[in-house]
Amino acid sequence: MLANKINQQLSHPSKSLAGWLASRFFLWHNKVLEENAVKLLQIQPDDTVLEVGFGPGLGLRAAAPLLTSPKGKLIGVDYSEYMVSKASKAVKKHIASGKISLIRGNVLEMPLPNNSIDKIYHCNCYYFWPDLKAGTSELHRVMKPGALMVTTLKHSSIKTIASKSFLRGDNWQPELYMEALCATGFTDIRIQELKDGRTSFQAVFATASK
Ligand SMILES: C[S@@+](CC[C@H](N)C(=O)[O-])C[C@H]1O[C@@H](n2cnc3c(N)ncnc32)[C@H](O)[C@@H]1O
Repeated sequence: MLANKINQQLSHPSKSLAGWLASRFFLWHNKVLEENAVKLLQIQPDDTVLEVGFGPGLGLRAAAPLLTSPKGKLIGVDYSEYMVSKASKAVKKHIASGKISLIRGNVLEMPLPNNSIDKIYHCNCYYFWPDLKAGTSELHRVMKPGALMVTTLKHSSIKTIASKSFLRGDNWQPELYMEALCATGFTDIRIQELKDGRTSFQAVFATASK
């Protein structure tokens, strides 16, 4: 019962005390993952970049200032109405200038055209996709040929969270995520062990081959 409630708020935070607490937890716990995903992408000023599952918007705030050309755009897709509203407040000046667009949508049915994205990043999101291959296949569809995707995670934390039944099924396992990438047209798939200060984390890199 409690595990179900926690899973619900981690996977799809809603406007409630529990959703607010989940969003505070993301801001405190996931800063390193969001900021490093953005660094590892090596964003260029005129890239079109997508973050999936942006939560309260920390990663959006880190990426937007790097897109200094008028052509540079940042798109966020998240299916939680509550997270879209929280993140919209966090990046309102970038939305007003047209640099960022936030879309309420599901990664399994990406509301974006084919071959439109140069770079994608996501943190703590794929664990909740009911069908990993459907998710990676949709991301592959919207990526330009040769586009890069970076996924950051803290394996030890996720393992602990999964052991308490706060995550459903096994989709959180990076091996399964990487298998889905391989099956849906990605190449150069690798996982790298990294450190930021005293925090260890992992990054999965994948290139959309077309
Ligand atoms: C655990 S939170 C992580 C938020 C942020 N990336 C971080 O690391 O702090 C997961 C986020 O992914 C979103 N999400 C989960 N499954 C999704 C899906 N299928 N499509 C779009 N968004 C999804 C949730 O709404 C939530 O905002």
